[in-house]
Amino acid sequence: MRIESHLEALAATAIFKATGQQSPALLKETSDPRHGDYQVNAAMALGKKLGRPPREIALEIAAELQKAEEISGADVAGPGFINLRLENNWLATQLTAAVKDHVRDGVDLVAKPQKVVVDFSSPNIAKQMHVGHLRSTIIGDSLSKILRFVGHEVIGDNHIGDWGTQYGLLLVGMREFGDAEALKQTPIVELERIYKTASARAKEDEVFAAAARKELAKLQNGDEENLRLWKQFVDTTRTELDKVYDRMEISFDQWLGESFFNPLLQGVVDELVEKKLARLDDGAHGIFWGEIDKAPPKLKKQKEPFLVQKKDGAFLYATTDIAALKYRKDEWQADTSLYVVDARQAGHFKQLFAVAELLEIPMELAHISFGTVLDESGKPLKTRDGKAVTLASLLDEAEKRARARLDEGIADGRLRVDPEQLEEVARKVGIGAVKYADLRQNRASDYQFDWDKLVSFQGNAGPYLQYAFARISSIFDKASSSIDDAEAEVILDAPEAERLGRVLLRFSQVLHQASQGYLPHLLTDHLFELARAFMSFYEACPVLKAEGISRDSRLALSALTARQMRRGLGLLGIATVDKM
Ligand code: ARG
Repeated sequence: MRIESHLEALAATAIFKATGQQSPALLKETSDPRHGDYQVNAAMALGKKLGRPPREIALEIAAELQKAEEISGADVAGPGFINLRLENNWLATQLTAAVKDHVRDGVDLVAKPQKVVVDFSSPNIAKQMHVGHLRSTIIGDSLSKILRFVGHEVIGDNHIGDWGTQYGLLLVGMREFGDAEALKQTPIVELERIYKTASARAKEDEVFAAAARKELAKLQNGDEENLRLWKQFVDTTRTELDKVYDRMEISFDQWLGESFFNPLLQGVVDELVEKKLARLDDGAHGIFWGEIDKAPPKLKKQKEPFLVQKKDGAFLYATTDIAALKYRKDEWQADTSLYVVDARQAGHFKQLFAVAELLEIPMELAHISFGTVLDESGKPLKTRDGKAVTLASLLDEAEKRARARLDEGIADGRLRVDPEQLEEVARKVGIGAVKYADLRQNRASDYQFDWDKLVSFQGNAGPYLQYAFARISSIFDKASSSIDDAEAEVILDAPEAERLGRVLLRFSQVLHQASQGYLPHLLTDHLFELARAFMSFYEACPVLKAEGISRDSRLALSALTARQMRRGLGLLGIATVDKM
């Protein structure tokens, strides 16, 4: 059950009964728990509307709310705030239901499931994935999982950059200075070297540049030899990418890269021209926003067109994205398409979404943008010699550091890990730490990469939560039972249990909010709060030493906590460890 949605509906009914008005409850969590759990702030606006003192109205609404089984107290404060306190018995009943719900841990499904495409990761072929792709990969994977869990049908699509002008350069570069052996051993490194050398050369050497253009045109016209080489570039890169994805335990439902849409691109340009959205200018085709009546006012001021075909006939990133959008609608009947891409591409997506509007493609579109990963001094993260940090090297480092922390903890007796599992645990902790550090940020902001905080077993970090989960698991080991068997009635017999219960009951609401706003950090915040509430509960309420229904109830609360942690971490793409 979504607690806040539930209370909002409850309060709206109370408002209607008390005043005859249809009004939103304006429900908020109270900032000070001494005043109650939630606040209903509707009386102020109603007072203005009805020309009556808000306090008087608030008293009438509060009297209605007081009758509900959910509420133990509804007090009016100040000019007309209504402070609500939840009824413990009601809370306990809801928690018992969640404990017994082994399928969904008390999380309800959306009323209207949608078909959602999540376009994420999407690196470019012949280049290593670097830390810039890290955020898209991690955020996109987590959002896909959260959306799916609340009931949407999700298609995770890796829209890889496997077509475009760079292939002309790669083709001539490959023939002139490619190293066949290196290409076998370290394919991406070699492809990257070829590409860099070739693009530098093309800038100085017009003959070379012309040759590249010619090879590209041949490729685009279906030349067999060039297609064979291109396919080799794609396949070798794909193999390397798969290694990284396997390590991160991330997968996709589709890999419709840019090349897939190539046959559709001329059609896109023709349609845009026919509908008078794009026009020819100096040999190239583009959408000139200022000339389009129905264009969004902000774009109308933009001088640069949205280019869809260059002078030499080549299509662009934009053309492919328009084709992909149409495809997602026509072939997949998608309701929503989400693009998990760096904030720097905001301009591209604004224009793309405006095109969708002009073509009347009925689809909800959102750019799930995110900021840059920065180093300790606040500059974009680079290697010491100024190169982009590759994702693979970052994951290596994370595992190494996780391993060192584990060794430390084992040496001083804080942690216990089966030596045979140490490597696997280090992998789960290291990769989990990288993912958590990324997801806990509000994605809109840049964030500073801090190795020490990242692999910390204290504070709001992945290892801390994995550790908290393992601690609860060990309670169940000692009790010879399992978090998945708990069925007991919950009773809230101490303030710390009440507090934990309130946090536990918010889980469904949090997941739905994270899914609606595409904000995984709401989930990390919740898990951190849950871990802390559990620690206080555990200190105040011994579990195994308690007896009778009290023991059963405490075990049930512990089980629900552990299950929420496992579920929540799972939705962040983070594995749990039973023993640590
Ligand atoms: N390949 C692009 C890049 O690395 C990202 C593609 C994002 N997806 C899309 N449909 N435009 O910058």
